[in-house]
Amino acid sequence: MKKVLIINGPNLNLLGTRQKEIYGNRSFDDFLEELKKYSTEKGIALSYFQSNSEGEIVNKIHESMGKTDYIIMNPGALTHYSYSLHDAITSADIPVIEVHLSNIYSRENWRSKSVISPAATGVISGFGLTGYMLAINYISESKKQP
Ligand code: DQA
Repeated sequence: MKKVLIINGPNLNLLGTRQKEIYGNRSFDDFLEELKKYSTEKGIALSYFQSNSEGEIVNKIHESMGKTDYIIMNPGALTHYSYSLHDAITSADIPVIEVHLSNIYSRENWRSKSVISPAATGVISGFGLTGYMLAINYISESKKQP
C-alpha cells in the first residue's frame, strides 16, 4: 500500500465554520472518514496531521522522511510566505501535492503567489474538498514509486 500523509496548515481546523461561503460547511474530520474509505479502495493508507504552527509542520515533514510515499498539503496562509516550509519540502525529497480549497488565483492579489508551488509536484486549487480526492486519484494512478 502507498503511504500518504495529509498535512493541513493554519486555520484549516476551522473548516465547516470558517468563511463557509469560501470554504464550505463540512468539517475536515467528517470529510476525512469518507476520504479514508476512498483511499483504502485505491490501495492507499492515509494519515492526517493539522497544525497552526509552522515549526510543527516542518518537524512533521522531517519525521515523515523514509516513512511516507507522498504528502498532500494544504499549507493555508503559509502558502504565501513560508520559505521554511518550501525548504523542508525540497530537503525531505517526498513528492508533495499542494491543495487549496479555494481558487487562490481569483482572490486577493497576495494569495495568487505560492512559495510552496516551486517545490511541489503539482497544484490543485479551487475544487473544494474534492481537491483532496483528485490528489488521491493522481497518487493511485502514479506508477513512479518515490
Ligand atoms: C487556502 C487558501 C489560503 O490563501 C488561505 O490562507 C487558507 C486556505 C485554501 O485552501 O483555499 O487558509 O489554502
